Amino acid sequence: FYVDWDLMTAEKAGFDHFMLKEIYEQPKAYRDTMGSRIDAAGGQVVLNEVKLTPQQIWDIHNIHIVACGTAYHAGLVGKAVIEQLARIPVEVDVASEYRYRDPIITANTLVIVVSQSGETADTLAALREARRSGARVIAITNVVGSSVSREADDVIVTWAGPEIAVASTKAYTSQLIAFYLLGLHFAQTLGLQDETMIRSTIAALLKLPEQVEQILAQAEQIKEYAEHIASHNDLFFIGRGSDYAVAQEGSLKLKEISYIHSEAYAAGELKHGTLALIEEGIPVIALATQEHLLEKTVSNIKEVKARGAQVFAIAFEGNPDIGKAVDLVFEIPRTLSLLAPALSVIPLQLLAYYASLARGNDVDKPRNLAKSVTVE
Ligand code: G6P
Repeated sequence: FYVDWDLMTAEKAGFDHFMLKEIYEQPKAYRDTMGSRIDAAGGQVVLNEVKLTPQQIWDIHNIHIVACGTAYHAGLVGKAVIEQLARIPVEVDVASEYRYRDPIITANTLVIVVSQSGETADTLAALREARRSGARVIAITNVVGSSVSREADDVIVTWAGPEIAVASTKAYTSQLIAFYLLGLHFAQTLGLQDETMIRSTIAALLKLPEQVEQILAQAEQIKEYAEHIASHNDLFFIGRGSDYAVAQEGSLKLKEISYIHSEAYAAGELKHGTLALIEEGIPVIALATQEHLLEKTVSNIKEVKARGAQVFAIAFEGNPDIGKAVDLVFEIPRTLSLLAPALSVIPLQLLAYYASLARGNDVDKPRNLAKSVTVE
């Protein structure tokens, strides 16, 4: 295998690593993935690649989202999005479990597989099993012509562009955008949400790329915090609702490239076990963007603070209650709670990157991991 290092350097476009370049490419990835799929003037989503007729959408009884790794975490957000917008029950499974649990699949089950590469063996096998059982399959993938895209009934391409770093960043956030578009498409077709709600969600979606740019401009703050946690061996991520889904992705990102052990916990579940691990000085990263859950999250933050944790929160700007309850806050621009994951994950990607750097690791090629896992 021959690698032209000069070419590799050139492809990094002035960034030290592919991961950092890909983090900074996210505003473009969001814009490209939304692209012509949003008719802003008409206030609607146009998802022509999903060829399900309105009747077929009406007939969907349940949805299974199946994926591995980071794509699975995008699926967790996808569940919240589809259930909230389209009121269709959704289950999310890691592909290696799904295949062996004898899932209940009928002709009225829609299966959505999510895969950056479109080549992950377990995800591909799950897709085949779903089709054999009579389900229709939508693939969300970043690679046109990949195995998953060839075998699915419908394909939503995430236009993130090639992702080289093993730790996925822009592919994950583009998968979130794909779920927002799909959720809105279902909601429009089913007529479940009023026009104003659809229009305001679309307007908020269109603002995301610029808001990501605002977050990236604050990267220095995250770098400082990353250098602080780099000397720790254990930490926790907590959150509720979609914040919990993002906490899981933040924890995975940090583990993958910094090798710092971390666990993501549903904030309300702490007292059922994990609280026993909280001791003086342990870092806890609290995601606090879900407005309807904020009061509850703040009380969970107080539980860990009382046991000596140092809490770093990620919250919408202008939130004095959070500021008072924690040691440090990183503020992100305001958006709808539903769309918050597309912003709150950005500081966590930067955190993993800078912690890995501070520990002197090979950021783009972490030990023991591969970009695409084509064996079971
Ligand atoms: C590997 C990669 C992860 C990725 C997962 C699923 O483990 O290291 O970053 O999330 O595979 O890959 P896929 O291409 O199916 O999204």
